[in-house]
Amino acid sequence: MPKKHELTISYDVLDRNELSEEETKDLLSAIQARQNARAPQSGFTVGAAIRTNDEKVVTGHNFENIVFNVLHAEENALGNIPKKSQNVGLKRITVVGGPECKESEDPVYPCGLCRQKLMEVFKIGDKTMVIAAGTRGKVERIALKDLLPRAFFPDVLNKK
Ligand code: THU
Ligand code: ZN
Repeated sequence: MPKKHELTISYDVLDRNELSEEETKDLLSAIQARQNARAPQSGFTVGAAIRTNDEKVVTGHNFENIVFNVLHAEENALGNIPKKSQNVGLKRITVVGGPECKESEDPVYPCGLCRQKLMEVFKIGDKTMVIAAGTRGKVERIALKDLLPRAFFPDVLNKK
């Protein structure tokens, strides 16, 4: 029998007031970004704030349009990185979302495609954390690499 290898993934479940000052700032930025979301099809609005390793914060919101093309909040935020930051890797991604017209305590995580896109700017050695939040209630905190274990990402191509 081949030996089974295991990956251990752990995450924190926190009250909002347990977040650090900087995490709270990022959450507020994501909440603010969510206010610009447009989701006429799904009615589900999302805001994201990305803090790069050089302490720049870029934000984004989801954007649905009449031709059913959807821009996710994280993709939107990622697209804003080059305006503010060099290609220095990611410190934290904060995502907040829920139905447009009611409160929800379910934390919103980046979808699979967004996880891969976030990995595009991930650097080997980054300790990038993800904060996932609903519109109220507890938040969850997990390392980005644990959201996409055994990931394929650009830096592996340059690994000696
Ligand atoms: N959404 C995001 O903005 N980010 C994700 O990674 C998950 C999904 C948006 C897309 C769509 O406008 C709505 O949430 C429902 O799927
Ligand atoms: Zn997504």
